[in-house]
Amino acid sequence: MRILVLGGTVFLSKATAVEAVRRGHEVVCAARGESGQVPEGAQHVAVDRNVGLGPLEGSHFDAVVDVAKMSVTWVRQALRSVTTDHWTFVSSCSVYADHSTPGTTATLDPLEDDPDAPPSPDRYGAVKVASENAVLDAVGDRAFILRAGLITGPGDPSDRFGYWPNRLSQGGRVAVPDATDQPAQHIDVRDLAAWIVDAAEQRTTGTYDAIGPANPLFMVLGEIAGAVAPQGTELVRIPEPVLQQHEVAPWVGPRSLPLWLPSTHRSMMFRDAGPALAAGLRVRPTSDTALDSLEYERGLGLDRTRRAGLPPEVEDALLNAVG
Ligand SMILES: NC(=O)c1ccc[n+]([C@@H]2O[C@H](COP(=O)([O-])OP(=O)(O)OC[C@H]3O[C@@H](n4cnc5c(N)ncnc54)[C@H](OP(=O)(O)O)[C@@H]3O)[C@@H](O)[C@H]2O)c1
Repeated sequence: MRILVLGGTVFLSKATAVEAVRRGHEVVCAARGESGQVPEGAQHVAVDRNVGLGPLEGSHFDAVVDVAKMSVTWVRQALRSVTTDHWTFVSSCSVYADHSTPGTTATLDPLEDDPDAPPSPDRYGAVKVASENAVLDAVGDRAFILRAGLITGPGDPSDRFGYWPNRLSQGGRVAVPDATDQPAQHIDVRDLAAWIVDAAEQRTTGTYDAIGPANPLFMVLGEIAGAVAPQGTELVRIPEPVLQQHEVAPWVGPRSLPLWLPSTHRSMMFRDAGPALAAGLRVRPTSDTALDSLEYERGLGLDRTRRAGLPPEVEDALLNAVG
């Protein structure tokens, strides 16, 4: 097959291109080339989506994969510019309006792009809804829409999941949120990429939550620890009020505990993985993701300044606070 990946220079879109090349497909990656390089074996066509798809205008591909993060303008322009038999659009679980009640599926109202509006999670989700709608309007009979949850594994630029294998591999007393009732789920980037290529090959269509099964957070952290932590490592549960007193943020940020969710978002990682698994998604054990994420973290430097996770002095203060 001849596959167009709109992206291909970083994380998910790159992993998708890697997988498609590995299976012998002809892969064209359209990107500026600022986030990285396209994988060996793929063709790089330099485009800036703020301008257009340039030399690709009017081309036909057997399959297209679009990861446009937050621009319905880019999505519509791509739909106008190329034709295809199968169109994957990578959306997000952020399209859902309610992250506090388990099982709700109502989405946010769609929003058009507004370059002057400050970025926010709700805006992100609402622009994804508009982007999904644009895809369905144009190629609904060929559309494969993936509402991805937390994407993990090697190459993750967000620093979120990788914090845990990094920190747990160093052992000792490790501060973890005492939020045992909170579910957690993720999808390894390589499993998502493989499913995208499977779907292109098999012409799978429909809209899915693209995520692995949910488990209690403490179980997920235990599985990561089981894969990477030295003997004697102790997971020390820090009560949420203590985390708040020390201004530790949930989810993301330079003083955060990734995978921990605020009370308003307790169901964000409790989506039903069943339909995706029934439609062909295969997920590797979290322990494998942890081991490969640790290798990636080691390449970056275990003690680097992070975009997500706890600085050591903040963790020390938390551990001292609970004795
Ligand atoms: N990470 C998560 O946990 C998570 C969760 C849910 C959903 N998602 C979704 O999953 C997808 C992730 O995609 P990704 O990992 O490949 O990363 P991404 O950051 O969303 O996409 C980056 C790709 O877009 C290209 N790009 C950026 N600006 C461009 C421009 N002006 N013109 C042309 N290309 C441009 C980049 O290439 P150049 O910079 O080289 O041009 C790169 O290849 C996104 O749709 C995201 O919303 C992510």
